[in-house]
Amino acid sequence: MPGSGVEQKTGRHAGSLVRVKILFIGDVVGSPGRRGLAASMPGLRERFSPDLTVVNGENSAGGMGITSKTAEELFSTGADVITLGNHTYRHRDAYEYLDRTERIVRPSNYRRANPGHGSTVVEAGGMRVAVINLSGTVSLSAARSAFDEADLLLDELEDRCDAMLVDFHAEVTSEKVALGWYLDGRVAAVLGTHTHVPTADGRVLPGGTAFISDVGMTGSRQSVLGVRIEQAVERMRTDMPVRFETATEDVWVMGAAVEVNGDGLADSIEPFMIPAP
Ligand SMILES: [Fe+2]
Ligand SMILES: [Fe+2]
Repeated sequence: MPGSGVEQKTGRHAGSLVRVKILFIGDVVGSPGRRGLAASMPGLRERFSPDLTVVNGENSAGGMGITSKTAEELFSTGADVITLGNHTYRHRDAYEYLDRTERIVRPSNYRRANPGHGSTVVEAGGMRVAVINLSGTVSLSAARSAFDEADLLLDELEDRCDAMLVDFHAEVTSEKVALGWYLDGRVAAVLGTHTHVPTADGRVLPGGTAFISDVGMTGSRQSVLGVRIEQAVERMRTDMPVRFETATEDVWVMGAAVEVNGDGLADSIEPFMIPAP
């Protein structure tokens, strides 16, 4: 914007008309979530015409964790990349799958020797897009700070991609908002997951990073974060162990659509929540 006093951004693809539309889907919970997403994908494709679909699958197997089977189901539903979170290692038989499958990422700031990897680069809409998974460290455990890890990864990925998207799997809004500001202008999007409750703060930050504290979940809303209501209430009422089962009624799909421009920054973010057909 010459003469406007606003500093011109000189991005990796400055001036090019390339752009990529990213559809990001919040934590898919159990088979109701997987089925609901599959039934909703045709409508989502029509509405957002995504070049790249990223799905958080950390709750896709029985409400907690992921298996090779549920991952493959999400891929065949239309996920190009699957992100994870604190339930990554729930199912032991998935470890080898995480190691060998490029398009599935677990939090990068977990121990380096742990199964899986923390980022991947995919081609979409004529751009190379890095998808990065990070875990918060407030009320969740990770081996290293998400902030330091982001700095390292951004340096490492700089020459290998044109845009970067971060799934920040974290518990508290303060940490999520802080990482959003920390990465503003450096990545296309910082999208929060894990709480299963969508927040109303989706926007493009001044430096060009699409941000939302939490996109919500894909699963039953007749539930407590995907768990059957009576079981979750019983656990909280009694402080005793209660077996959790995945709720099945009233499935919604929650997420956000982000448009990324040739500078590797966001033009828009549109959070959404829709009832599964
Ligand atoms: Fe989750
Ligand atoms: Fe989580």
